Amino acid sequence: MVGAGIFGFMINPPIGLYYMQGLNTTAVHAHGALYGVYGTLGLGLMLFCLRAMKPELKWKEKPIWFAFWAINIGMLLEIVLSLLPIGLMQTYQSVNVGYWSARSPEFMQTDVMQFFRWMRMVGDTIFAVGAVVFCYFALDVMRQRPDLKTKTIPAIAEAS
Ligand code: HEM
Repeated sequence: MVGAGIFGFMINPPIGLYYMQGLNTTAVHAHGALYGVYGTLGLGLMLFCLRAMKPELKWKEKPIWFAFWAINIGMLLEIVLSLLPIGLMQTYQSVNVGYWSARSPEFMQTDVMQFFRWMRMVGDTIFAVGAVVFCYFALDVMRQRPDLKTKTIPAIAEAS
């Protein structure tokens, strides 16, 4: 809704595209939409398959809880702390001075731009930690054998 919907429509109107095509506002939309739509879909489908592979396994929910929040908060911070401010400043420059100026090295290498580019590290790091924890969770589920005491399917629990 946010990445594809809000940020998609933010850059989509003709007057917007006239000034903003290929600025960092496109990266705002691209990151938000691609991760928000297909990233979450992929992760969700993977969890669905893991559940189906071992339906009787009781999941450790802490890592997957952590991964969910870290990945989503990381993605939000990438956009809010870095891509969006750069994109909006480029847009301002494009409207007031010209598109050529908004993409020029003179504008893109100013101190304030460098600062916002480095701010990517905050969100990127949190996102990456979440991704690593997600991988750990998925590998751990594949590795584990169901514990008879924690079986969740009543029929199997009764049989044991
Ligand atoms: C599943 C949903 C979507 C995904 C995954 C997606 C992904 C992307 C990506 C990756 C780009 C960058 C392409 C590039 O620069 O080479 C892009 C560009 C663009 N998207 Fe989307 N998008 C989605 C939905 C939408 C929607 C709903 C809108 C408009 C309402 C939209 C409008 C645009 C526009 C106008 C561009 C071109 C921006 C430019 O040239 O600077 N997108 N999209």
